[in-house]
Amino acid sequence: MKFYVATLFPEQVTTYLDTSITGRGMAKGAFSLECIQMRDFAPNNYGRIDDTIYGGGTGMMIRPEPVYGAYEKAVELCGGKKPHTVYMSPKGQVFNQAKAHELAKYDNLLIICGHYEGIDARVINEICDEEISIGDYVLTGGETAAIVVIDAVARLIPGVLPNEEAYTNESHTDGMLEAPQYTKPPVWHDKEVPEVLKNGNDAVIADYNRIAALVDTWHNRPDMLDKLNISESDWAKMLAFERGMC
Ligand code: ADE
Repeated sequence: MKFYVATLFPEQVTTYLDTSITGRGMAKGAFSLECIQMRDFAPNNYGRIDDTIYGGGTGMMIRPEPVYGAYEKAVELCGGKKPHTVYMSPKGQVFNQAKAHELAKYDNLLIICGHYEGIDARVINEICDEEISIGDYVLTGGETAAIVVIDAVARLIPGVLPNEEAYTNESHTDGMLEAPQYTKPPVWHDKEVPEVLKNGNDAVIADYNRIAALVDTWHNRPDMLDKLNISESDWAKMLAFERGMC
């Protein structure tokens, strides 16, 4: 898979993604990342890409030409084919694990990052397939949001994580959060790792973890629990778990 990022601050994106698991994924050739500097497509010879807003809005906006120039460059790098094109924006649909799986199916993904007060709406309407937000808050630019999306998508690409199990058993995969997990030592600050995880058989451990995951989802994300249609017997097990009875 190839990621392209149209940005005014490529070093923000590469500094993060060249590091650790994503950096190793790229070194192994599992995916690639190319930043396209929008300033290279400024409509003047002094590199200015922003301007004031029609209708009296405060601040500056990115003009359409540098964004379109970066888009055309991405199309050229994709052999003349339009890449799936996403605009990072607090007005977009909120990103989640299902969207990460959906985006991971594209061969070429172009992510456009705004800055300042954003990007002229005409070019966004013309070239973008969708707008994605990473949450209901406003960042200084789309770069941080693009990093979040690329990180979440890249780890789903075969060869980036050591084994597929790493992402079949984790939070947000079955509409619930992951069960708490423990490592050595078996006792820390008088707190013991649950006995069943040390001595139980696989089926008992799986059932324990499923109930522990449901209890954490209940506490931390009741909105997710509402969609799960919990059976009466699971509710009984969750309540027993809460009371420390299983
Ligand atoms: N740009 C600014 N805020 C953003 C957000 N919450 N998500 C995506 N892009 C953004």
